[in-house]
Amino acid sequence: MKKYDVGIIGATGMVGQRFSLLLADHPWFNVTALAASSRSAGKTFEEAVSSRWAMTDPIPQNLKDMVIYDAVEDMETVAGKVDFVFCAVDMKKDEIKALEEAYAKLECPVVSNNSAHRFTPDVPMVIPEINDNHLDVIASQRERLGTKRGFIAVKSNCSLQSYVPAIYPLDKKFGVDKCLVCTYQAISGAGKTFERWPEMVDNVIPFIGGEEEKSEREPLKIWGEVKDGEIALADSPKFTAQCLRVPVSDGHMAAVFVSFKNKPSKEEILKVWEEFSGVPQELSLPHAPRQFLNYFTEDNMPQTKLNRNLEGGMAVSVGRLREDSQYDYKFVCLSHNTLRGAAGGAVLLAELLCAKGYMD
Ligand SMILES: NC(=O)c1ccc[n+]([C@@H]2O[C@H](COP(=O)([O-])OP(=O)(O)OC[C@H]3O[C@@H](n4cnc5c(N)ncnc54)[C@H](OP(=O)(O)O)[C@@H]3O)[C@@H](O)[C@H]2O)c1
Repeated sequence: MKKYDVGIIGATGMVGQRFSLLLADHPWFNVTALAASSRSAGKTFEEAVSSRWAMTDPIPQNLKDMVIYDAVEDMETVAGKVDFVFCAVDMKKDEIKALEEAYAKLECPVVSNNSAHRFTPDVPMVIPEINDNHLDVIASQRERLGTKRGFIAVKSNCSLQSYVPAIYPLDKKFGVDKCLVCTYQAISGAGKTFERWPEMVDNVIPFIGGEEEKSEREPLKIWGEVKDGEIALADSPKFTAQCLRVPVSDGHMAAVFVSFKNKPSKEEILKVWEEFSGVPQELSLPHAPRQFLNYFTEDNMPQTKLNRNLEGGMAVSVGRLREDSQYDYKFVCLSHNTLRGAAGGAVLLAELLCAKGYMD
């Protein structure tokens, strides 16, 4: 595989820092540009992040001295230095939409963690093991944007990375009727550490702005179909969600209740999970977990602190499958929110895009 030059827009943030670690010695990607707001522009990466470095691994040696660009003012310079960019910024939705489209129009593909374009009909929102066929809409997006190479591809919200992978193959096999999920989400999902958010120590906050809507609606795009160059949203399965912020640094857990059209046995569910894999595993993409869904038989597993880093934080942990008195079954799911749920998921998506020739 040839090497691609890549940029990180929002490099100084929580997700951007994760990107820097994942990309510092990536076998296919070479970081040639870092960008953030005007507050960070002109500083070295080390100067910009040293007082707020939130990762346990140190700042990558090869990126420390790289000078940060202004993501807006220096857009043409950044686009000229890279084959594509990863984007994770905290800006207003319409500003993010405009920023990402502007990079795409400079013939610089954008792999985004932001929610701004998730419901743009010709922008694919992809979990690589599930809906890689949605990349087909890139051709019509390029037509709309008037580009040859440039396009935007996004990943879904971090909350649903834990439960959608477990529910999707069950729906394909047995037909899922409805799902109820309660998520228990880490503070890094808000770009925070305990140091910067002391109110979260010994506390639970029963509200995360916009999260329940995303957790209920985004699965319908993942389940959607490509029709006439757009993704037509599915109308089932129906999801209802409550999302809570809990005092955990990293890792989103979900308690899931599911009813089926054709109720399977517990053994049938476990077999589907064990056998589920997708194109990333077939292609042995660098960030593909070998085993995507991992079932734990112990009653007190999976645990956030013990299992969030499974397979480099790219695998999903599942446990406590049992019958329910109101739904057919209940179980819990866990995934790392800034790895599989954000930067890692985007890196895997970019690997898929490269393997399929979209970055050439
Ligand atoms: N954290 C997660 O687990 C997670 C998961 C999935 C998706 N996301 C999404 O990823 C995005 C970033 O989240 P985060 O948690 O990394 O946020 P964050 O830690 O607050 O970082 C925000 C980044 O955006 C940059 N930025 C802010 N204003 C800007 C501007 N006007 N122009 C250019 N860059 C600007 C910041 O640069 P400065 O340092 O220069 O201010 C920083 O690099 C959000 O859209 C979020 O919804 C996050």
